[in-house]
Amino acid sequence: MRVLASAPAKIILFGEHSVVYGKPAIAAAIDLRTYVWAEFNENGAIKIEAKDIRVPGLTVSFSEDEIYFESDYGKAAEVLSYVRQAIELVRKEADANGKGITVSITSQIPVGAGLGSSAAVAVATIGAVSRLLGLELSNEEIGKLGHKVELLVQGASSGIDPTVSAIGGFIHYEKGNFEHLPFMELPIVVGYTGSSGSTKELVAMVRGTYEEMPEVIEPVLVAMGKIVEKARDVITSDLDEELRFAQLGRLMNINHGLLDALGVSTKKLSELVYAARVAGAIGAKITGAGGGGCMYALAPENQSEVATAITIAGGTPMITRISREGLRIEEVLP
Ligand code: MEV
Repeated sequence: MRVLASAPAKIILFGEHSVVYGKPAIAAAIDLRTYVWAEFNENGAIKIEAKDIRVPGLTVSFSEDEIYFESDYGKAAEVLSYVRQAIELVRKEADANGKGITVSITSQIPVGAGLGSSAAVAVATIGAVSRLLGLELSNEEIGKLGHKVELLVQGASSGIDPTVSAIGGFIHYEKGNFEHLPFMELPIVVGYTGSSGSTKELVAMVRGTYEEMPEVIEPVLVAMGKIVEKARDVITSDLDEELRFAQLGRLMNINHGLLDALGVSTKKLSELVYAARVAGAIGAKITGAGGGGCMYALAPENQSEVATAITIAGGTPMITRISREGLRIEEVLP
C-alpha cells in the first residue's frame, strides 16, 4: 500500500512570537504545498528521502544517510528531523513500533522562510503515515500531533503552524484553540528575502530578552495581543472593504514595528517592508519568525507595483492565495 498526503504553507498575518507566550494570533494557509508518500518496507527501519527541497538559491534532493549539516543545505536536512519524529510518534500511537516505513518528500515551500515548511512536512507525514497504519485521525488531531513534533524538535512552539497547515483557511489561534474567521480574499504580496532564519534560535533569542527584562518585553507582547484582537474585530466587522483594508494595514505596520523592537527583523526584511510601503502597499510586515525569511504586504490596488518594488529591493515576490484546504489525502494505492 502507498499513501500520498499533502499539507499547505502558512503566513502569520498578526501575532507571531507573542503567540508563543499565550497571546492570540491570526494566520492563513496559502497555496504552496508539501507532498509526502509513505509506504511499508521489509527491513523494519525508517527510511526518508527528500526530493526537490527549496533552500535559498537552490533546490536539493538527498536521503537521510547523506545529511550535511553546514550551510543552507543543512537547513534542508533539518527538515528530516521533523519527519523522523512524526513517523515515530504515529508508529507509537498505532502501536506499530518496529514497522518499516519509507517516506519520500517533495516540497514547494522554501525552508526557513517563515512559511511553515517544517510544520507542513510534519503534518503531511503524520497524515500519510497514520493512513498507512490504519489510524483514523481528524485533521485537528493531526495538527495537535504536529505541535508535539515541533515541541520535540524545536523545544518551544505555539502550535499555530501545524494547526493552520492541518485545518487550512483563515484562523484565529490562542493557546491550542482555533476558530475559523470568515473567509476573505486578501490582496497580498509575500516577499522572500532569499535568506533563512531559524525559528528555534529566534524564539530562544526573544525568550532570552524576555527573561532578562520582563517588565520591558511583557507590555510589547500584550500590545501585540491587542493588535490581533483589533484585527479580528476589523475582519469580522461589517465595515466596507476599503476601510477594513486601511485599518488592517495600519495594524500590520504597528505589528512590524513591535517585531523590529523584539530584534527579529533584519536589514533586508526592513528594506522589503519599506519598499512595499513606498510602492503603495497599505501595510507591510514580517511574517513568521523573522531573521530572514519573508515579509508580506497588503496591496489591494497595486499588487504588481508592490511585487516590482520588492524585486528592485532585492527580494523575491510571490503573489499567493489563501488555501481553504489544509491536510489532504491525495492518493491511496493498494
Ligand atoms: C513561527 O511561524 C511563528 C512563531 O511565533 C513561533 C511559534 O508560534 O511557534 C515565531
